[in-house]
Amino acid sequence: MRKRTSTPGIRPSDITPERVFHSRRALLGAGFGLAAAGVVGGRAASAAPATGVLPFTLDRADSVADRPNSFEDISTYNNYYEFGTGKSDPAREAQHFRTSPWSVTIGGEAEVRGTFHLEDLLRPLPLQERIYRFRCVEAWSMVVPWVGFPLRDLLQRFKPNSNAKFVAFKTLYDPAQMPGQRVPVLPWPYVEGLRIDEAMHPLTMLVVGLYGKVLPNQNGAPLRLIVPWKYGFKSIKAIVEIQFTRTQPATTWSGAAPNEYGFYANVNPAVDHPRWSQATERRLGGGLFAPRIPTLPFNGYGAEVASLYRGMDLRRYF
Ligand code: MTE
Repeated sequence: MRKRTSTPGIRPSDITPERVFHSRRALLGAGFGLAAAGVVGGRAASAAPATGVLPFTLDRADSVADRPNSFEDISTYNNYYEFGTGKSDPAREAQHFRTSPWSVTIGGEAEVRGTFHLEDLLRPLPLQERIYRFRCVEAWSMVVPWVGFPLRDLLQRFKPNSNAKFVAFKTLYDPAQMPGQRVPVLPWPYVEGLRIDEAMHPLTMLVVGLYGKVLPNQNGAPLRLIVPWKYGFKSIKAIVEIQFTRTQPATTWSGAAPNEYGFYANVNPAVDHPRWSQATERRLGGGLFAPRIPTLPFNGYGAEVASLYRGMDLRRYF
């Protein structure tokens, strides 16, 4: 991925400090509920996109023990080429992106198909917080308290049929709102895909929040994918379409540079990117002199997901 310097985005003073997060977690852990607002409340999201608090339960079993990165780290160092190629561009350029009303089209090899208001899709789904490792193919990483739900809980409601071998995702195409789409730096819209068993894996999430609040626009609001054992480019943002397909769908980065980015994109310290090593990573927030840390196969989720790839040559299917 390209590197470019640009001006800083949000000021630190604009951002919720993570101590608010830690005290909220303590409250929730003690059994206090919080009023629904933001995405779950439907259109309220547009009224308070940055402050809407989400109701969720902590999913400790699926969370890592690593200390989460700060809200500032997670929301000011972003890859979101629809809003610029610089890391601080999205925080600035996506501020006024409209995330409500929002609808998602679900189609392809499934009994139930159609276009649905996001709030109707989300209403039956209880939200969970899961603290996941996140590893970018550019060899930086972070630890993120996402709020969302397993993708499979949504997909199953559409009754995919036996021809559904893959799931394809598409980001909104709206160059009027997304200035990066006026430049041919990538083929637009951004598209991604998973094999059906990867999509149905309980660790694969659709995310609507971060640090207990509605997801910031720069992180992919109102709805993004998170697949914690894969490089970050699989985790497509601002999803407007989900299709069940018979064949492996096209994906943006593997189409743009097939020798550099594969369809599978499982985190793999043994397979270097042609332009950089994948053996170690730089954890954001550690400062300039922090030692790099070893990258783990499947980003540390091997016990849960390695069986999905049994018998596959992961150098060939990278
Ligand atoms: N989704 C869209 N639509 N456009 C993008 O440019 N970038 C990807 C992924 N999803 C991208 C995207 C890449 S390369 C990464 S590393 C992650 O989003 C970054 O997510 P974050 O900004 O929330 O850390």
